[in-house]
Amino acid sequence: LAADGLVVSVDPWASLHQPEETVIETLVEDAGIPEGLRARASERAVDLIESVRSTAQHGIMDEFLAEYGLSTDEGIALMCLAEAMLRVPDAATVDALIEDKIAPSRWSEHLGKSSSSLVNASTWALMLTGRTLAESGHGVAATLRAVLKRLGEPVIRTAIRRAMQEMGRQFVLGEDMDLALSRGESRTRQGFTYSFDMLGEAALTTSDAERYFTSYSSAISRIASACHHSHPARNPGISIKLSALHPRFEVSQHDRVMGELVDTVASLARQACDAGMGLNIDAEEADRLELTLDVAEAVLRDACFSGWDGFGLVVQAYGKRAGPVIDWIAERARDLDRRLMVRLVKGAYWDTEIKRAQVDGLSSFPVFTRKAATDVSYLCCAARLLRLTDRIYPQFATHNAGTIAAILEMATDADAFEFQRLHGMGEALHDLVRSREGTRCRIYAPVGKHRDLLAYLVRRLLENGANSSFVNQVVDPAVASTTIASDPFSNLEFAVRQEAVIDPTAIYAPERSNSKGWDLSDFGDLARISDRRDPFAGKSWMARPALADGPTGNDWREVRNPSLPDEVVGHVLMSTDADVDAALAAATPWDAPAERRAQVLVRASDLYEESLGEVFSVLAREAGKTPPDAVAELREAVDFLRYYAARSLELVDPPRGLIACISPWNFPLAIFTGQIAAALAAGNGVLAKPAEATGIIAALAVDLMHTAGVPRNALQLLPGDGATVGARLCSAPGVDGVCFTGSTATAQAINRHMSEHLDPGAPLIAETGGLNAMIVDSTALPEQAVRDIVTSAFQSAGQRCSALRMVYFQKEISEPFLEMLHGAM
Ligand code: FAD
Ligand code: 2OP
Repeated sequence: LAADGLVVSVDPWASLHQPEETVIETLVEDAGIPEGLRARASERAVDLIESVRSTAQHGIMDEFLAEYGLSTDEGIALMCLAEAMLRVPDAATVDALIEDKIAPSRWSEHLGKSSSSLVNASTWALMLTGRTLAESGHGVAATLRAVLKRLGEPVIRTAIRRAMQEMGRQFVLGEDMDLALSRGESRTRQGFTYSFDMLGEAALTTSDAERYFTSYSSAISRIASACHHSHPARNPGISIKLSALHPRFEVSQHDRVMGELVDTVASLARQACDAGMGLNIDAEEADRLELTLDVAEAVLRDACFSGWDGFGLVVQAYGKRAGPVIDWIAERARDLDRRLMVRLVKGAYWDTEIKRAQVDGLSSFPVFTRKAATDVSYLCCAARLLRLTDRIYPQFATHNAGTIAAILEMATDADAFEFQRLHGMGEALHDLVRSREGTRCRIYAPVGKHRDLLAYLVRRLLENGANSSFVNQVVDPAVASTTIASDPFSNLEFAVRQEAVIDPTAIYAPERSNSKGWDLSDFGDLARISDRRDPFAGKSWMARPALADGPTGNDWREVRNPSLPDEVVGHVLMSTDADVDAALAAATPWDAPAERRAQVLVRASDLYEESLGEVFSVLAREAGKTPPDAVAELREAVDFLRYYAARSLELVDPPRGLIACISPWNFPLAIFTGQIAAALAAGNGVLAKPAEATGIIAALAVDLMHTAGVPRNALQLLPGDGATVGARLCSAPGVDGVCFTGSTATAQAINRHMSEHLDPGAPLIAETGGLNAMIVDSTALPEQAVRDIVTSAFQSAGQRCSALRMVYFQKEISEPFLEMLHGAM
């Protein structure tokens, strides 16, 4: 409440949209970590790194990934192979996959480079395999190839499969809880604790979510038997992923998620609470963050958890909202009178976040784009957590010696927090720190079968293979320990432009700016859209032909909302024969210079974006578009305008003259605009006939293009029926070409009209329906294929001309695939 009595609301997540530099400045200021401490941390880190380097037996995985990092084609080929191979049931597909991924790469370049003989052996084998399959090479290779030929492909298959399984084994403690507990015994005896993670995430079906729930629940029962201490910090615990427990764990399903998932999580939490163990909710993709917090808060409200200190949340330091999330958690702990556990990580989904923001055209990234910013954020968050230990038990999860050293410098009470590492990673470092410092360490240990491993495995391969990663650098003797341990605060370099991570707005630069996207998982963006759209909720539109000379008819057609048939959205005045003739008589090509045409089209694209409220409202109410479809529709239209504006600058041919553009109702703004923009960009005049069902959005679009500066006689709108207005346009000798999207039958009718009346040289550009098929073999990740099938077949109400109509599955996998597809549908 402000002094003047106004209620001031502050968006706690505003940092999501702030520049990276501002977010970091705020964090740094709040943390107040002194420079002297940072210098001591770097020195301490150098010492740790050198000790690790001198004592550590690097695992074969470390060596392997250091040699085949993700910056090499071979590394990427191996990752694709590892990702797909374990689920392929038949030999023929495995052979095809091996040939596809292995044969083209230059394995011989890695020969003899790694210090590990095992890695060299596998390099050798891979090189041979590559050579054999590629059928090239002479000398030694040819001889060895002959040996392999004698051994045959089954041997190669077995060898590679075993290598890949080894890779999985590195990161998974056991296939079930019994195996995991027994494999974990020796570490437990040394004083380590565990947080077990049941592999599996992003459930697409209710039955998968139920299966994951059962696996968590029985794991908790099993772990309970290993809980011998009175406090959860000393006992083994469990980590859960909410995306595994609900098939629609997404913001658009907020109410359903709250209605269903809160009970599910609460029941697991009660089990954990009864056993006196910790239950931690892992952090996943950034767009699930607020939903995760909502679920956590609802669960925590239950009084039955009073006195239980084991409920844990994860904060991702690479996220711009990390600071506010910690404040939010601390507030909940105070309000609900709970002690909470907070695991601080840097974050495992960085590549996904970057790509998603670019694809969605967001105004900024949800994560930092500089490695040093992530490191600095981590340390500032750590400082904040260490100030909150009366309410929060910090769990510092990192494999980075520099990060650990800084925390050791900052922390005053080794009992007030713990370190964490992943199974199969950072062993030497954490052994060293525990024995030297007497700090606690918990190991995050995945448990499960290979079929659920892949998403997790890919994140670990990305982490180990990225050349920015600590774990990648520490095994590379070429990188000096002082470089690895250098102070991240001094490496921020915000002034230096980032070449590697292209801003979402700039992915088409310098040619054109990306169409503005909206993040429908961000409550802020959702509210901004509502603010702009709601004023049009009750509007009734009156759309008319847009002619150089005013329209003549009086046939007003009512438009109703396809999803609320009682709602009248407006009226559209149908063009008469006289209107069509008047339009033809007045129409002229657009004779402005190309630069001017380009400028006007770009201006139109900006006006489209500025009119988002009305555009989204008409798209929903006239065309039945869902919010994601409406966003995609507007963005595509905007991009067409900018794309064709750029093309117009390249054209050398003169315009054709007058083009009739006849567009469909399924993409009433995007296709309508695309046809017109292409014709206008080339300097033609346009007579546009929109679909009967979507005249209002067409009139709005034409109005915006006129406002931008397209002359009225270069663009005229003729709403009307295909059989009358459409047929008259396509039979008018003054028309020099037709652009049509719609059914094949109508395209054929247009073709006939044109051949009877138009100049034989006038082109018909027709985009008609298709029967699109997808072929899915066993190398495809089922979750990904199913998600794409559902999107392609059913998004845009299944009305894309490119929508999926038929799926073919490899016979061996069809049964489980169909089950997942049915569940997801
Ligand atoms: P470092 O090599 O120092 O840092 C790697 C981090 O830097 C990564 O986050 C990476 O994305 C980031 N980075 C790299 N390049 C850039 C760049 N250009 N700009 C910005 N950032 C960059 N992760 C989750 O997301 N959710 C979890 O619930 C989770 N649980 C975990 C539990 C445990 C016990 C452990 C050890 C890890 C967990 N992780 C989780 C994974 C964790 O995020 C990674 O292991 C971690 O990022 C590695 O950090 P580091 O300090 O070891 O390595
Ligand atoms: C992940 O699944 C460890 O939660 C982290 O990548």
